[in-house]
Formats: sequence, structure tokens, C-alpha cells
Amino acid sequence: MAGEKRIGILTSGGDCAGLNAVIRAAVCRADGLGWTVIGIKEGTSGLLARPLRYEVLTPDKMTTAVMRQGGTILGTTNKGDPFAFPMADGTLKDRSVEIVGAYHELGLDALIGIGGDGSHQILRRLAQQGGFNYVGIPKTIDNDVGLTEVSVGFDTAVAVATEALDRLQPTAASHARVMVLEVMGRDAGHIALAAGIAGGADVILIPEIPFSIDSVAQKIREVRKTGRNFALVVVSEAVKTADGTKVHKDYHGGEKRFGGIGDYVAFKIADTTGAETRVTVLGHVQRGSMPSWRDRLIASAFGAHAVDLIAEGKFDRLVAWSDRRVIDVPLQEAIAEYQDVKPDDPLVTTARALGICLGD
Ligand code: F6P
Repeated sequence: MAGEKRIGILTSGGDCAGLNAVIRAAVCRADGLGWTVIGIKEGTSGLLARPLRYEVLTPDKMTTAVMRQGGTILGTTNKGDPFAFPMADGTLKDRSVEIVGAYHELGLDALIGIGGDGSHQILRRLAQQGGFNYVGIPKTIDNDVGLTEVSVGFDTAVAVATEALDRLQPTAASHARVMVLEVMGRDAGHIALAAGIAGGADVILIPEIPFSIDSVAQKIREVRKTGRNFALVVVSEAVKTADGTKVHKDYHGGEKRFGGIGDYVAFKIADTTGAETRVTVLGHVQRGSMPSWRDRLIASAFGAHAVDLIAEGKFDRLVAWSDRRVIDVPLQEAIAEYQDVKPDDPLVTTARALGICLGD
């Protein structure tokens, strides 16, 4: 693709740290090529709105302060699949044509989407239907996007969860308690596993490994036998209870979100061991902070590489991280490869080697 181009960029799905660093890098690289970048507001919502909601992102606005900032300067949404958009009257409507129309109305040559697997699936389908050029960038604290070692936001989320364990440890020791930390991650236990190891947890429970309370109780007893009066337990939000249930919280309008498994585990530990337990649910604190140096670095490499792909005319690709460098992979293959924690994950091996109980 030679000559001046107009490229769109949007953030989609839940926010995380590092999104603004991606946007900044894409704008800087595009500016180097003499291109214009259009920032679309609130994900696909900006393309469904009339008038369209967007702003031209000029390099002077993309300061290093923006790179340091959490959240997304463009706004985002994790609702409103344009192929089945929930209307006010309760019906679902296919509004994909409106989005394709918006892409052409903006005169875009390509679109960069920063999202998780669900967002890329939708945006890829839109690109195919509308015959437009799409490049994806993986972001999610859950780190469950396939074919990339890491997604933007994961590193910061792990750092926050690790710091939470660092802060819980003195209280655990002072009060001889078992402190249970519930972390996010949906069906992937990456945050729990990484933070649990880094934060010195005795027990790490993840959705991929069914747990028995007897095994957890045994570990707590072993810890006590060594003369230690406290323990740290990390539980990933989608861990199932003994009857196979994933614990949810109900919200207004019938919305459900994970939450509550920490209370369940803490109750069971207290019941079986007699230990005094307390629960901390970390929640969105894991998403919102200033990005770590690693997230800023990966985000910068991802944003610049996405623009390079467009310059080379390579589309339907996902920018990815592998072997210490930025690469790109076929988007469809990345979407098809859900990346949860596999039994032979090196961190599972590390956790076991350290004597950490994984609940099995
Ligand atoms: O996918 C990212 C994530 O933070 C999950 O870990 C969590 O289950 C979910 O989003 C929370 O979504 P919301 O922000 O809609 O509550």
C-alpha cells in the first residue's frame, strides 16, 4: 500500500492497562508514514452512532503521559454484538451493515482492533462481510488469546495481584489467618498461577484443575506442621465448587459476572481446618492501573507492527509476541486456539516444584 492512508483504530471489550500505549505507538508509526489515524470512540458503538463518533489522533496528542495512562482514551464496550444487537424493545437486530457503512463513510483503508478473542471474532466477521482490511492486536488481562505468549494488560494485572499478596501476607502472619485472594481471568487461570507463584501463595486454584477441599486442607495442615501460622490462597474467579458450579453475582438487567468463589473456598477451609479465614476480591483493580514497563513495551511493539502490516498490505492477521519479539499470525488460527492453562504449562510445573498445592 503506497501513498497516504487513513486507518481507523478502536479498543473493544474490557479495558486494561497498556491500551493507550498501543494507540500512541500506532499513531507515531503512522505519522512516520504520513498517514492519518482515526480513533473510533467506544469500540463498535462509535461506528453504530449517527453522527459517527471518532476523532483524528495527531501525534502531538500522543504524549508519553498518554502512554502511562490506564484505561483507554477512546473508550470501549464489551456489550452490543453488532450481529445480534440488543434493541430497546428487547429484540436482537443485525446491525453489521451500519458498521461496514461507517468504515466506508470514514474513507478508511484499514482498521486496527485492540481486543480479546471475542472482539476479534466479531471484527473479523465484519471485515469479511464488508470487504474491509483488518488487523488485530491482542489485549486482555486474562491472557487467553491464542498464538501469542502474552496479551497487553496481563503483565500489569499479575503485578497488581502479586502486590495484593504482598500486602495480605503481613496481616495473615500477624493474625494467624488463611487469607484467600480471588482474582479475575474468566476460564483461564493465568493471573492466579503467575501471581500465586510470584506472591508466595501456598495454594493456587485455577479453573483448569478441579480441586478437592481435602487436598487444600492437607496443605494448610502441612504448613502448620512446619511452624508457620498463616497461609495464602489464590482462587481464580471461574473455579468450580464441589457440585460443578461456577459462582456468579447477579446484576441489574439479568447480567451475570463471576464472583464469590473466594467466599466458598474460605468457608470450606475454615470448616475443614478450623483456621480463621478472610477473603479479598481484587476485581477491576487488576485492570485499571498505570501499565507496567513490560506492558508498555509490548504495547508499543504491537501498535507499531500493526501499522507495518498495513503498509505491507498484510491483513486478517493478529499481531503477537513470541520468543522475545513481535510477530504476526493468521487471525483465524489465533481465534480458534483458546489459550487456557494446559496441564504441561511450565508454570504448573514450577508451582508443583515449589510445593504449591494446585488443589488436585
Ligand atoms: O475479560 C476481562 C475480565 O476482566 C475478566 O477477567 C472478568 O471476568 C470480566 O472481564 C469482567 O467484566 P466486566 O468488566 O464487564 O465486569
